[in-house]
Amino acid sequence: MPAKTMDELVSLCKRRGFIFQGSEIYGGMQGAYDYGPLGVELKNNLKDAWWRAMVYDRDDVEGLDAAIIQNKYVYKYSGHEDTFTDPMVDCHDCKARMRADHMKDIKVCDQCGSTKVTEPRDFNLMFKTNVGPMVNEESYTYLRPETAQGIFTNFKNVVDSTSRALPFGIAQIGKSFRNEITPRNFIFRVREFEQMELEFFCKPGEDEQWHDTWVKLRKQWWLDQGLAEENIQFEYVTGDDLAHYSKATVDILYKFPHGYEELEGVANRTDYDLGSHTKAQEEFGLSAKVKKNEHSTTKLAVRDLEENKNVVPFCIEPSAGLDRGVLAVLTEAYTEEELENGSSRIVLKLKPHLAPIKVAVLPLKKNKTEIVEAAKAIKNRLQKLGLGRILFENTGNVGKGYRRHDEVGTPLCITVDFDTIEQEGAPVTVRHRDTMAQEVVNTADLPSFILNYFVNQEA
Ligand code: GAP
Repeated sequence: MPAKTMDELVSLCKRRGFIFQGSEIYGGMQGAYDYGPLGVELKNNLKDAWWRAMVYDRDDVEGLDAAIIQNKYVYKYSGHEDTFTDPMVDCHDCKARMRADHMKDIKVCDQCGSTKVTEPRDFNLMFKTNVGPMVNEESYTYLRPETAQGIFTNFKNVVDSTSRALPFGIAQIGKSFRNEITPRNFIFRVREFEQMELEFFCKPGEDEQWHDTWVKLRKQWWLDQGLAEENIQFEYVTGDDLAHYSKATVDILYKFPHGYEELEGVANRTDYDLGSHTKAQEEFGLSAKVKKNEHSTTKLAVRDLEENKNVVPFCIEPSAGLDRGVLAVLTEAYTEEELENGSSRIVLKLKPHLAPIKVAVLPLKKNKTEIVEAAKAIKNRLQKLGLGRILFENTGNVGKGYRRHDEVGTPLCITVDFDTIEQEGAPVTVRHRDTMAQEVVNTADLPSFILNYFVNQEA
């Protein structure tokens, strides 16, 4: 049974150290969250899974990590300076500020019911900032609202350094910032978030086929992260809802605790961005009138060897929100179970590759030196397998340890007891999170047992 309410998830995340309100000790900061000891592991695991699928498992995608702060002209020519806006409404009575397209009725305040509300007006979502010691008309730029522009501006660098021909992609994971009018629903809509974006470049005319392909591939990837098929829907974005650069967008929606909402968008950006940055060069870059660094001076095209001409590629963009991904896998994994003995447990049924702690090693007796040392040795041995975090935890209460590790999604617990130090083969008990089944494994066999377990779960 998935999480019933967002409150249950928020409570688990705080209690167990997944996610905290940002700047909490100063009363909080709206739209900003901090990932705690387990949250950072989960988030990194989801990023790694995306990078593996996008870059390592394919041979037609390169990675990139571009700077967050870029020349302000990037956003002029990307269209964000003029069009990256949401419609905003203010209430004269209670001073609430709302997104017009989220209001039930744009003539009535959502907060107090007053009809004294402003007409919707455009509000640019980019955070403006100042670069360098001088604050003047020239010194501003923006924090990036999407990672994509760093890919477009490095397009030629990647092509030149890798000799790529179409079709190929460039993948990037990184922070983006949007001054959302109304951040809400925990980490769903925030002002600082991470995106996992692929810009996949193809020949004009092959774009629609690649768009279909990427929608299918991305849905499958989310299923591989443990989301249930019945909780995923597609939405074909139309009319005014299409971004300024998009010819067609398919949103992948997930059934979050607050309803079906966008998890990832797969857009056909055509040649909009590369074309626009190329036009900037044609208009200004070759002209001595404009200062050299004010406009892109790089032609963003590739040689089509079959047709022997330069083409500005079309671009298909699967763009996933990492924070929304974390929320989705937590929502899906959160389960409350009644047990046969009448008690109940909360168990986070995360896919093992996403689990923040892969294996917990628990000595049965806190103060029995030989047991504790044997447990530490097992932890150190398993840590070297490179699977992620293996935790040695010496609380002396194995039963409570199992419950705690159920709640944070640890797939396996290993208990080291008197048999381990007294019997031949140094047997330990391996306890499985989902079935609660226990089995005995000799210490020497543990590395291959654990490796097999994780490899089989991935497959
Ligand atoms: N480069 C294309 C792009 O940025 P988008 O639909 O605006 O497209 C892509 O954003 C994804 O980024 C969304 O599907 C969502 O998962 C995530 N995202 C966007 N705004 C967000 C916000 N304020 N908080 C959390 N995630 C957000």
